[in-house]
Amino acid sequence: MNEQEIIEAENRLMANVFAKKPVVLTRGKGAVVWDVNGKEYVDCTGSYGVALFGHSHPKIVEAIGKQAEKLISCHAGYYNDKRTEFLQKLTSITPKGLNKAFLSNSGAESVECAIKLARKYSGKPEIIAMMGAFHGKTMGALSATWDKKYREPFQPLVPEIKHVPPDNLEKAREAVSEKTAAVLVEPIRGEGGIRVPPDGFLKGLRELCDEKNILLIFDEVQTGFGRTGKLFACEHWGVTPDVMCLAKPLAGGLPLGATVARADVMSSLKVGEHSTTYSGSPLVCAAGCAAIDVLLDEKLTERAATLGAYFKSELEKLQSKHRIVKEVRGLGLMLGMEMKFDVLNTLLKAKDKGVLVLDAGRNVLRFLPPLVISREQIDKAISVLNSVFEEEENARPSGASAN
Ligand SMILES: Cc1ncc(COP(=O)(O)O)c(C=O)c1O
Repeated sequence: MNEQEIIEAENRLMANVFAKKPVVLTRGKGAVVWDVNGKEYVDCTGSYGVALFGHSHPKIVEAIGKQAEKLISCHAGYYNDKRTEFLQKLTSITPKGLNKAFLSNSGAESVECAIKLARKYSGKPEIIAMMGAFHGKTMGALSATWDKKYREPFQPLVPEIKHVPPDNLEKAREAVSEKTAAVLVEPIRGEGGIRVPPDGFLKGLRELCDEKNILLIFDEVQTGFGRTGKLFACEHWGVTPDVMCLAKPLAGGLPLGATVARADVMSSLKVGEHSTTYSGSPLVCAAGCAAIDVLLDEKLTERAATLGAYFKSELEKLQSKHRIVKEVRGLGLMLGMEMKFDVLNTLLKAKDKGVLVLDAGRNVLRFLPPLVISREQIDKAISVLNSVFEEEENARPSGASAN
């Protein structure tokens, strides 16, 4: 099928819930992807942060191939060597004390489990989440997600999940009641526009939770696994949660979510109270083992810190050159550039020039490239953005239009 035929068939046959860009991707290697016509793109989306190890990393491909020959599925009602190996590797890198996990298939599921876990452990119903948060779109996770365009069509949502202004300890404290089970927060808000909290916020939340005897849940679905220049973003502030949600790159691109908690917290869930048929399948766990090996062997966390600092400084140079750029934010290779207008056109123009970039809300360009991206590839992205911004500015001679 050619490009047009694929686009038409997918639009006809698949639920139209994704804001699709007109490009058909068929191949990837490292930080580069190719479309069906053979055109090459630097991938600054990393498949929404999933392709952290680069596309088709040879060690992950090999691990998947070997395990596929041996055993693909094994329900968690039976023991499995690869699942055990993955759990050992995972809990050897999660922050100290987080050493018992529930394995699922996505970020939203990892949050669902965290919400159920908080209610079960505490015997209380209420979860405090942040305005601007994104935790996924299944009913529980959606109830903790902030944006009304995601929530409103599906009300009533799960009750007793309330939102407070982010980065505001006083408001969080005021919101805590005798019904509160947990505070749920993304250490750096991703979908909410790459918002890094002020120093002291997460530590303050930790102190509040300790004082009130409630659980602190970090959603590290987007920030985890080296993305921000630390293995987990919470390490930037030296704060350890009681429960951590992980997904996206966990199995090098295969679907895997993990809710990792203190053993006493996770042990409050009893047999049958939570499960999924695919929990910790051998195939996905083999990919997960290889992914953790690659993360550590190739020092990708350190790479995210170094290349992220370089990428950010180059984005800041663009900011000083172009009046349509409002702000550059982020840590490691989780970067955002707030523009003075809707970025959709910018994304499409950058795509035409061979660079794929994400958005985060209407005004923010978001960069979640594979951590294996090279300086040259970053330079290409910067040079393409520079030329797109020039075009945008020429089209808006009197300055950016407000929205
Ligand atoms: C912080 C965060 N939590 C949860 C999710 C939901 O993950 P998934 O789309 O795998 O359900 C996302 C997805 O972008 C996310 O960024």
